[in-house]
Amino acid sequence: MSHWPKIRPTIDELVNRQFETREFKKLFAVPLTGRRVEVYQNHMIFYANNRRDCWSFVAGKAPLDVKRAIWEHEKDELIHDDRMGRAHVTEDDLRAGDESLLAPGAKAAYYAWLYCAREKPWLEGLVYSHILERRNNNAIIKGGGLVERWKRKQRAELGAKEAEKDFQTEVHAVADEDHSDIFEPIFTRYVDSETTAQAVLTATRDGLLIDRALRGALADAMLEVE
Ligand SMILES: [Fe+2]
Ligand SMILES: [Fe+2]
Repeated sequence: MSHWPKIRPTIDELVNRQFETREFKKLFAVPLTGRRVEVYQNHMIFYANNRRDCWSFVAGKAPLDVKRAIWEHEKDELIHDDRMGRAHVTEDDLRAGDESLLAPGAKAAYYAWLYCAREKPWLEGLVYSHILERRNNNAIIKGGGLVERWKRKQRAELGAKEAEKDFQTEVHAVADEDHSDIFEPIFTRYVDSETTAQAVLTATRDGLLIDRALRGALADAMLEVE
């Protein structure tokens, strides 16, 4: 019997509460300027690259149906997404970014995610990556997921014309809803005992904590420039 339906409401409550944390509030309170958006985008390039490493490490350990779901998900990310007219992250992005400018807390968060993907059992490793798309899922987060809210913030503070240039934000406001839904059947199948349910809940809390570390570091890094 699946234990997923039993823990799913708690997980959805936890991802919703993410927006009430100090770090998320701080990030959304940063007044946007051109230079601050550059800082944000530089961090997102290496965040997107870190996501690819993490999903791959999880896929390596997971059963075939999970590898298939991850592979499906990674097509948009690494090969091509029609909505974006390109992959979500490319070598050109990495060349345009500057890793030396990452905030210490951001770099530490990326390493923490890498550790969890490599060292934890695959189901927990999967949660660490999935939870970041779940808190982007507008069907789950009341008031819109992180990227949807960021899109609104950019439009309100920079104007629609400037905001629309950031197609990463514009596309992810939609894409992560599908990306998050892909894994519902996987969790339904594999969260099959009280032990796995507890492990998934712990990974959820932990993963959201690392996410807060990144967002707080990002807010500070943005506030350091005018
Ligand atoms: Fe993506
Ligand atoms: Fe994704």
